[in-house]
Amino acid sequence: MANKPKMKGLILAGGSATRLYPCTAQISKQMLPVYKAPMIFYPLNILIKAEIKDILIIVSPAHSGRFVNLLEPMFRDFGIRILSTVQEVPNGIAEAFILGEGFIGNDNATLILGDNIFEDVETIAKAIKNFKSGGHVFVKEVTDPERFGVATVDKKGNVINIVEKPKKPKSNLAVAGAYVYDNKVLEFARKLKPSIRGELEITDINRAYLRRKKLKMNIVNGEWLDAGTPDAYLDACNLAREKRLYDNFDPIIKKAIEKSRERFKEQAKKMLR
Ligand code: G1P
Repeated sequence: MANKPKMKGLILAGGSATRLYPCTAQISKQMLPVYKAPMIFYPLNILIKAEIKDILIIVSPAHSGRFVNLLEPMFRDFGIRILSTVQEVPNGIAEAFILGEGFIGNDNATLILGDNIFEDVETIAKAIKNFKSGGHVFVKEVTDPERFGVATVDKKGNVINIVEKPKKPKSNLAVAGAYVYDNKVLEFARKLKPSIRGELEITDINRAYLRRKKLKMNIVNGEWLDAGTPDAYLDACNLAREKRLYDNFDPIIKKAIEKSRERFKEQAKKMLR
């Protein structure tokens, strides 16, 4: 009998973040500090809380190597494997599954956007751990749904439709940047065609699951933001401080940071000698 599929984790940290230029000229957006830790630690925290052991970080060519240099030695001793691959051009979120095909193999996959900061980490981590098959998305009520993928739901809370950036949204439920899929996602991703904005849309993957009645959703509590603009970035930093998101990091992350801080201090001492 074939082995039960594992859950693999992907973080999309590509793009050139021109809206944050010149802050992002030398450093990737997802490496900018969000209060006490680089931005990428926040999505990473969700994957680690969900007990995922294999994580692929998808990066832009300008910053390739940096994420793995920092994170791989930090998490190696905790049995967590961190790899990275390059997204040459930002061709859309769904391209993550094409770039990650070899990494995912026959397994399931959770994708989190590297600039999405969630207060309600628990709901997502729990859904990942309990995942069996199909697709699973997370929605949040927003005041500006036209900026997002928008979900409509029936009385029982089942998703009935998702539309990408509708001019006249039928609800105020935005689909947030965390997605859990079974292995079928690879087949759906391969068949995608670029949208009008020239991207492989994650909404089209979600719609493929919807057509087969295989898409579930949870509402996430608390705040959720995508730290792509100067204001949203500052909001993310304030949210992290006010809600003590760092203190709620998984114990593995806290231990990994402490251990590598010790190594960092030792190296600093050696340099002074
Ligand atoms: C993307 C997705 C959209 C989703 C959003 C979450 O939008 O296309 O469905 O709601 O991320 O942040 P984009 O950031 O590409 O505008």
